[in-house]
Amino acid sequence: MSILTLLTGPVLRFSGNPFDQPWSEVVQIDTSGAVLLQDGKIAVVGQADALRQTHPTARHVAYDENHLICPGFVDAHVHYPQTAIIASWGKRLIDWLNDYTFPEEMRLADPDYAREIASRYLDLTRAQGTTTVASYCTIHPHSADALFEAAATRNQRIVAGKTCMDRNAPEGLRDTAQSAYDDSKALIERWHKKGRASYAITPRFTPTSTPDQLAALGALWAEHPDCLMQTHLSEQTDEIAWVSDLHPQARDYLDTYEGHGLLGDRALFGHAIHLEPREIDRLKETGAALVHCPTSNTFIGSGLFDMAGLSDQQMPIGLATDTGGGSSFSMLRTMAAAYEIGQLRGTPLHAAQLLWWATAGSARSLHLDDKIGTISEGYEADLTVLNLCSTSAIAQRHANATHHWDSLFATIMMGDDRAIADTWIAGSNEKPSLLVSAF
Ligand code: GUN
Ligand code: ZN
Repeated sequence: MSILTLLTGPVLRFSGNPFDQPWSEVVQIDTSGAVLLQDGKIAVVGQADALRQTHPTARHVAYDENHLICPGFVDAHVHYPQTAIIASWGKRLIDWLNDYTFPEEMRLADPDYAREIASRYLDLTRAQGTTTVASYCTIHPHSADALFEAAATRNQRIVAGKTCMDRNAPEGLRDTAQSAYDDSKALIERWHKKGRASYAITPRFTPTSTPDQLAALGALWAEHPDCLMQTHLSEQTDEIAWVSDLHPQARDYLDTYEGHGLLGDRALFGHAIHLEPREIDRLKETGAALVHCPTSNTFIGSGLFDMAGLSDQQMPIGLATDTGGGSSFSMLRTMAAAYEIGQLRGTPLHAAQLLWWATAGSARSLHLDDKIGTISEGYEADLTVLNLCSTSAIAQRHANATHHWDSLFATIMMGDDRAIADTWIAGSNEKPSLLVSAF
């Protein structure tokens, strides 16, 4: 017999994209709402009184008016192996990779360490209200197994792929064109569409793959077109100059992917800050998604992503922490940083837009918007419940708020894991067991 769980309280609902339509027409807060969960899915969305009457035996979890039931946060670009080096000081992209990232990724050669970090990462992010991530792994196939297994244990939806690099990376952190193809193919067969998992073919970025490796991964994607393909694009100006030295014949950075079969509507390009007009046109024509990583872009000093300009062109754009180039595991902190970058570019985003972006918007970039990111009947029961007065500083602002949006915005700007009252994954809110012994 299936278990019914009824959540009652203020519920955030979307009926459209608040970047395309006025936010007040497509994002609503139902102050006496209810969500009925059954078998890991959202069975009914309605009014608290009515659903309590029709489902009197359901387990009832009541959230008061100081809470907001939201879709679970979807983080569209992370590197789980960088969990233990998050917030490392003072470098720009290439030095940061060489000095902090590659040595740490080398440690995941040990499968036990990979498993420990995968579990630690999923527990830390669940405590931040994140219910789905799209993650890079390391070059070691077992690092992808570790994350897929940890997600399966938690019933969690996950997108991940083994990172591929066959040049400009240290000994011990390089594969080959052939082994990248073979190992990625075996992982696709093992994990893609198994339970809640999906596979993303993952060349790290142009500088760390030879043309042969890019072509091999392009061929693999052509054989498995329902996989995603994730990589980095135009993050820092030094990186772009390096790509141009490595590929003097290419029209631009994007062309180095397109020329090897790595551009299409299931492509995800992280960062995409310093784009040429031709690149924007091609991205738009092909329907590829971009992913904004605001705390990373300020932390590593990369630049200010043009959200307003690019979303006006109807491009799918995800939002992401980019852990550990990003300085936080929190999507609240990420929304705050996206707001601040919007301000620096003269386009302040509304709380309704920020919340949509961190949930339905990211889900859309991952082609999962028919499954997650929205509180709608038939969707998977991944929900994040916010406490809108989680600290005394936020509570006094909440007390002075004139409406829910005012209060939600204060939690976005000032909140952290204390603002996460509950994270529901596939209909369960079991608390994560933090790996205290790991520290
Ligand atoms: N470009 C290539 N690899 C990485 C990475 O791990 N993090 C970031 N931020 N950019 C990258
Ligand atoms: Zn990245």
